[in-house]
This record gives sequence, C-alpha cells and structure tokens, in this order.
Amino acid sequence: MTPLNKLTTTLKQTGLIKFLSHFAEQFSDIMLKDLSMASIGEDRKVDFLGKTVTNFGSDSFLGLDQDDRVKDALRNGIERWGSHNGASRAFSSVETNVLAEEKLAEWLGIEAVLIYPSVTLANVGAIPGLVGKQDIVVLDQHCHNSIQEGAKIAKANGSQVLFFEHCDPSSLAKVLQSAGKYRHALVAIDGIYSMSGVIPPLKELNKVCMDNNAILYVDDAHATGVVGTKGRGTVLDAVGNYENILLVGSLSKGFSCLGGFIGCTQEMKSLLKWKSNTFIFGGPVGPPYLDAICTVCDILSSGEYELIIARLKRNLNILVQGLRSQGLQVLGGATPIVSVVVGDEEQTLKAGHILFQKGFYVQSVIFPAVPYHGGVLRIQVNANHKPDSVKDLVNAFKELQKEIEFPTAGLKKAA
Ligand SMILES: Cc1ncc(COP(=O)(O)O)c(C=O)c1O
Repeated sequence: MTPLNKLTTTLKQTGLIKFLSHFAEQFSDIMLKDLSMASIGEDRKVDFLGKTVTNFGSDSFLGLDQDDRVKDALRNGIERWGSHNGASRAFSSVETNVLAEEKLAEWLGIEAVLIYPSVTLANVGAIPGLVGKQDIVVLDQHCHNSIQEGAKIAKANGSQVLFFEHCDPSSLAKVLQSAGKYRHALVAIDGIYSMSGVIPPLKELNKVCMDNNAILYVDDAHATGVVGTKGRGTVLDAVGNYENILLVGSLSKGFSCLGGFIGCTQEMKSLLKWKSNTFIFGGPVGPPYLDAICTVCDILSSGEYELIIARLKRNLNILVQGLRSQGLQVLGGATPIVSVVVGDEEQTLKAGHILFQKGFYVQSVIFPAVPYHGGVLRIQVNANHKPDSVKDLVNAFKELQKEIEFPTAGLKKAA
C-alpha cells in the first residue's frame, strides 16, 4: 500500500466522509448532488440527467449571464486580450482591471475597490493579512465558511479568534468586552446569510464595533447587485457610510461574471495588495471577465437597473406570497434566496427529487451545510424567470405537500 493509498483510506474513515457516503448510498435514488448540466436555454430551462427542468438554483439573480451585452463584452475581451494574461497582479494588471475597479468604486460610492479572483480568495487572503498577534478576529457563529477559513490562518499566525451569537449585537458587545486587551478587532459577518436569507442588524453591529474599537468586515456576496439602492448591497443603506467598514462583494452571483472584491479607502487598497497572500501569489480574474464586469457596472448604474430589479421583485413576491399562503415555513424573502423548511434529511432530499420530477430544480440543503435535522429547500429566484414558471413552482409545492410532511408556520395548509 502506498502512502497515498493509506491517506485515501484514512480520509474515508473520517466522520464527515462516513456520514456523507452513508447518505449517498442510502438515498442514491433521490440524491440530486454533483449534477452536471448539459445545456442552458431560455427562461432558465436547463438539461440535467437528460431531463429539462426550470432552474431555481442559480445565484445569477439578475439573469445577466444571458444578456447579449455581457456576452459581447466577453467575446470582445477575448479578441482584445486572449483568454488570460497569465501574471499575478503583483507584477502587472490589464488596463480593464483598473477600469473595472474604478467603475465598481463609483457605483458603490466607495473610495476604492480591489478585485480578487473570488470572494473566497478575498476572505482567505485579506483576513489574515489585516490582523497580527495583538489583534482579535470575532466572527458571527454562522458566517460563511471562507471567512472562517481566513480566520483559521489568522489564528495560526497568532491572532485570537472568537465567535458571537448569530446576528446578536449584545453578544458581540459581550465578546469584545471580555476579550481582554487587544490592539485591533476585526468583526466579520455576512451581509446576507445565504442558507436562511437573514440580513443582520448592520447599524447596531457597527455601533457596537465603533464603541469597542473594532472594524466591521461585511461579506455582502449575496447582496451585490441585488439588494439596496442601485443594488449596492446591504451596508450603505443600513449604516449610511463606509467609514468603519470593509465591504466584500461578489462578481460571480448578481454580476454573473467572475471574482470578488473588497471596497475600502485608497490607502487600505494599497495595503491589501501587499498584505493579501492570495492576491500576490495567485493569478487574477481573466481579462474578458473584467470587460464583462465593466459592462455590468454600466447596466447597474443606468436607469435600466430599476426595470431589472422590478422583474426580480415581482418574481420574488409571487414565490414568497404563494408559499406563505400555503402555510409553509419560509425563511428569507427580502432577498432572492428563499428557503422552505423541511427538517428531516431524507424528507428534504425526497422533496427536492419530487420537484425535479415535476420539472423544477431547487437545492435540497442538508447537514452539514445547515444544522442536523434542519434541512431546507433553497430556491433562488432570478429576474429572467417567467412569472408563470414561478407560479408553476408554487403550485408544485401544493402537490408536494400531499407526499411530504412539512413543518407549518402556524397557518392553515392550502387544500
Ligand atoms: C457570503 C459568501 N461568501 C463567499 C462565498 C464564496 O464566493 P466565491 O464563489 O466567489 O468564492 C459565498 C458563496 O456562496 C458566500 O455566500
């Protein structure tokens, strides 16, 4: 047996892998994981496993992935730059990278923006880069995995890492006040919690930070382009300024392009370039995508944005009202990620499978992505879903309730 074979055996015996393979075996006929998509068509129709279904599992909330201007920007970008310039930005950047950062900063109303190849790489690069041995990192207990991974590196480098209760400003205050003496505290949270659609009390959390010499680091990945005035996310509308905030956003979700970014001051941007290892030692977003990011910025900054967001809100309304009127327990609804609580793991997988058979793909989310027995059906609404498709999905839930026992929200179930 080679050392590599031995490692493979060890990994197969870890608790998580055993749990997941047990599930995969037990529910092989209803497990819709690791799917591969054969094509994407009109009205969010996709081909999975030889079956055409309406896709309610895409974070491309504004539907810009199918926009001709965005596709043209990518094509033109390839003509101009080729597929990739192949150099770390520590050495050089294509001009479009600089332009995309300027356009993003202007749209957000922030001084400067630094683009990373993904939000994960922003979090894993910036968080350990920002803090040192005399500093603490304080995380919302439900914050995104990539923030936690960034914090682990910070911890390995000597920073203290602490957690506070989900979305609870008084818990944050207690943690900061009992942390002992620190030089700086970085408080990291999500702007929207994507498994529940919950938006944290940003104003109150920022106040606690200001009162306790702490910086608020908000990963607003799911809100970028979708929530708030002009789609600028959750932060500016709630807090009123970015004075004490490092704003992380996504270019892969609402933007339908690729990458992540940190919005900050010009000075902090220069520091992050030197302090983020993922920025220095990794490659950049490919130039054609940077051209597409510029195009999306132009669309979001134009009057057309209101039309797109109105379509998204219309679809979201149909979905949320329709599900709630059936007495289902619906989480979220202020954002285009809506979760319907099922609970039991098998029932959650089965519910997703039945919807799939009826022509709808939604994500069945189970432990460990959510707490054990906290399974949900996660539905992502897009601006380019046809309203009738959303209504059809709502009706499919009525049928589904004949086969699956859902916990109810206290309302009488629809007949
Ligand atoms: C809050 C948050 N941060 C980071 C990410 C990861 O983003 P990326 O795919 O750009 O690495 C996600 C993805 O869903 C997210 O929800």
